Order: sequence, then C-alpha cells, then structure tokens
Amino acid sequence: MGRLAIFIERYSISGSFELDSLLRFKDAGERRGHDVSYLFRPELRHITRYDAVFIRATTDPLNASFVASRVAEMHGIPVIDDSHSILVCCDKIWMYQLLQKRGVDIPRTVFLHRSEVNELRAVALFRELGPKIVLKAPDSSFSSHVEKVESPAEFVEIGEKFLRRSDRILAQEFVKSLFDWRVGVLGGKPLYACRYIIPEETFKIMAVVDGKLRLCWTEGVALDAAPPEVVRLAVEAANAIGEGLYGVDLKQVDGRTVVIEVNDNPTINAGLEDLYAPDLYDRIVAHLLEERRPRHPAKRS
Ligand SMILES: Nc1ncnc2c1ncn2[C@@H]1O[C@H](COP(=O)(O)OP(=O)(O)O)[C@@H](O)[C@H]1O
Ligand SMILES: [Mg+2]
Repeated sequence: MGRLAIFIERYSISGSFELDSLLRFKDAGERRGHDVSYLFRPELRHITRYDAVFIRATTDPLNASFVASRVAEMHGIPVIDDSHSILVCCDKIWMYQLLQKRGVDIPRTVFLHRSEVNELRAVALFRELGPKIVLKAPDSSFSSHVEKVESPAEFVEIGEKFLRRSDRILAQEFVKSLFDWRVGVLGGKPLYACRYIIPEETFKIMAVVDGKLRLCWTEGVALDAAPPEVVRLAVEAANAIGEGLYGVDLKQVDGRTVVIEVNDNPTINAGLEDLYAPDLYDRIVAHLLEERRPRHPAKRS
C-alpha cells in the first residue's frame, strides 16, 4: 500500500469533467489498496508524507506545481510531472530541439532571434515555409501565443508582440488539418488517443474569436483504431523528452505525420480522453506507486 498525493489548485476543478477525472484517480488508487489525498498549495510542506505525487495543476517553472515537483524529487519521491519535463515543455525551442535531435518529424521550423524579425527576413521565410506561417512564442500554452500570418507586415507585427515575452520566437510551416491527434504516453507506452476537432472559426484547438472563446471538441478513439504511425511517432516524441506522462499533439495530412507539440501535464477529462481507455487511471497510479521504488524511502516527516 502506498500514499499518493494529487497536487491541485482551486482552478483545477473548473468543471464536472475535471472533478470526475480527479475522483476517478482517487477511486482507482483506493481500489488498488492505496491512500489517495488531494494536496493544496498550503500543504506543500507535507509532501514528504507521501510515496508519490501526481500534479494536476497547470505546470510552469514559475508556478507552485514546479515547487511541488522539485520538492518531491529532492526527497526521492516519484512525481509526475518531473521538473525536467516541465522545463522542456514550457520552452518550445528546447522541446523542438530535442525532437529534432531524435529525428522526430515536425513541421519545417525556424528559430528566430530578435534581429531577424523584420520584413526582409519575412519575405525569405514565406519563400521557404510557404504562403502561411505559424508564429509561436516559446512559452505559449493553451494556444495563447500561436498565430498564423500571411504577409511580411503581419509577420513583423505579431513577431514583435511575441518578442515582448522572449528573446526568440519560432516560425513554422502551416500544416492544415481538421483536427489534432492527441496521444497520451506514459513511461514510453501509449495510454490513450483522441482527436481534438478544431473549431471552424480558427486553426487552433482553442482561440478567442470576436471576443468569444472557441474550444475544440474531444473525440475519444481506441488506441488500436488510431493510425499506427501516429501512435508510433507520439511514443518516439515522448521518449525524446522523458519517461513521464505526456500528451503528444500530431497532425496527419496526405500521408505525412508530424508532431506539433509534446505537452507535460496533459488534460485528462472524464468521459473524453478516457473514453476508450478507462484503465488509464489504474495505469498512472500503478506507474507511480507500484512500478518504481522511491530512491530514499527512509525520508519521512
Ligand atoms: N505548424 C502548425 N500548422 C497548423 N496548425 C498549428 C501549427 N502549430 C500549431 N498549430 C495549431 O495551434 C495549436 C496551438 O499550438 P501549440 O504549438 O500546441 O501551442 P500551445 O502550447 O500554445 O498549445 C495547436 O493545437 C494546433 O492546432
Ligand atoms: Mg498545444
């Protein structure tokens, strides 16, 4: 029997999908004979009382979730997400470089320094990447700093906006598709698959259009019904980052499959991502508490 802490913040439960998912983690843990507690920020100092930590709050190097991850690691307590994965996945330049090093296919991508965000360079990039370019700030999440540009003037306008957040930005070939594949990967093995159907009004899975939030629709897919190439590439991409839990986004167009992003801390909503993978809760609990031993089991407060 082990003690699992699920680290959450108040905003982790903004809807019934999230709440149900957190309850399913607790049920799965308890069915397997473990103690499962939800841990909030003020209780972080009690982290050493647990045998494993599962973070279900937004991860960012500047968030409390990062502190939870580091404190767990310092005490040898298995944790998802580990701090390395949080750091890499919050920096798209680092993330894409790791994918490129492993030869994982991504859309054609160019990293741009501040001095390259000008109309002259834009003209050359449109020639190289195509008539539509996707610009990204390295720390974008929830599609917040990802924009499509179609002219050098637009390129400079959006590029300069993103440069307020970072010294470098990314320019990427636009790969058009009706949906993103999302494959959950745990410890190097596929965990679940789904399609995030992109709203008609935008090219992103989430966007504010005319002041209104447009969200993708999630369609669960059985792993063995997903294209094998999508699942294979997702696992390869996840392995380039680490051994934890990842949500890999991919697009498959005209027989070509590319990885758009590897996310740590992937969304798991009850009835959506888990639709054809009801065992995912058990697998995550088992991965944290049953398959690995804490490195310093003696450290307890
Ligand atoms: N190169 C691309 N071509 C077409 N669509 C893209 C491209 N890159 C990203 N997108 C769309 O924009 C969304 C957000 O991009 P992503 O890189 O995942 O940033 P974020 O970390 O902010 O979610 C993706 O889910 C995808 O639908
Ligand atoms: Mg994304």
